[in-house]
Amino acid sequence: KDLYAVIGSPIKHSKSPWIHGQFAEITGEPVEYRAVLGNEQDFAGSVEAFRSEGGQGLNVTVPFKQDAFDYASEFSERAKRAGAVNTLVFREDGSVFAENTDGVGIVRDITVNYEVAISGKRVLVLGAGGAVRGILEPLLAEKPQEVVIANRTVSKAVQLADDFSDLGCLVGVGFADVEGSFDLIINGTSASLAGELPPIPSSVITPSSVCYDMMYGAEMTVFNQWAQQLGAAEVIDGLGMLVEQAAESFFIWRGVRPDTQPVLQALRASLA
Ligand code: ATR
Repeated sequence: KDLYAVIGSPIKHSKSPWIHGQFAEITGEPVEYRAVLGNEQDFAGSVEAFRSEGGQGLNVTVPFKQDAFDYASEFSERAKRAGAVNTLVFREDGSVFAENTDGVGIVRDITVNYEVAISGKRVLVLGAGGAVRGILEPLLAEKPQEVVIANRTVSKAVQLADDFSDLGCLVGVGFADVEGSFDLIINGTSASLAGELPPIPSSVITPSSVCYDMMYGAEMTVFNQWAQQLGAAEVIDGLGMLVEQAAESFFIWRGVRPDTQPVLQALRASLA
């Protein structure tokens, strides 16, 4: 079997080994997929050890997405922009190709799984950290009318908008400066982890707004509860993004796209 893994620290609770195990079963691809606890002082050393065992590719999670970018030798345009990667391919010639599949993951979940078009829409993105940087290029590729990035630290939102300004119409603001309503609102802050809500005006939500929290859990996130109470058309959590980014990585490695629906359904059932 061909060997792959997810590397992170901690790594015990990662769902990636299970997800990729399901993909291997569904597609019949001879894939073995492990979880690797990376050394936070020596990411390269951990990767070299995995490669010496025959590892052909890695998924990369917290806190190594930036280290993985530094380790790689070749990049997709998207990965270059993101400055952080979640997928590495160890090629036979020794080169290391890097890609970021998070953005494709969320866009596929929204447009394919939920059949919500992004093209021509007004989009509000909350947060300006690594998670948001990783999704902006695929999001802008869908040609939204406008993307407003709102963040607690305003300067980071402005900088991010500036970094991607050639790819579409986008602007960076503070939470209090968000004006008008939006068709799609994506929460990419880590506020949900602390059970907190980014302080944006409730007027952003209308009965046709779709809200997406990149976090997920057994309970609905506070952001999605808030959006639902305000009458949003749909509230979506990040579980589909997790499965879709994994499917995109699997596709990059194997050239085969697994059916994500049964995996997503089983994962959803296991959360409850
Ligand atoms: P990640 O990889 O999850 O993006 P990050 O790069 O540390 O992690 O970014 C975290 C994001 O969540 C940032 O936009 C952060 O806002 P700041 O840039 O002002 O720090 C945002 N964030 C974290 N906790 C938050 C909270 N309680 N309320 C609002 N925003 C929060």
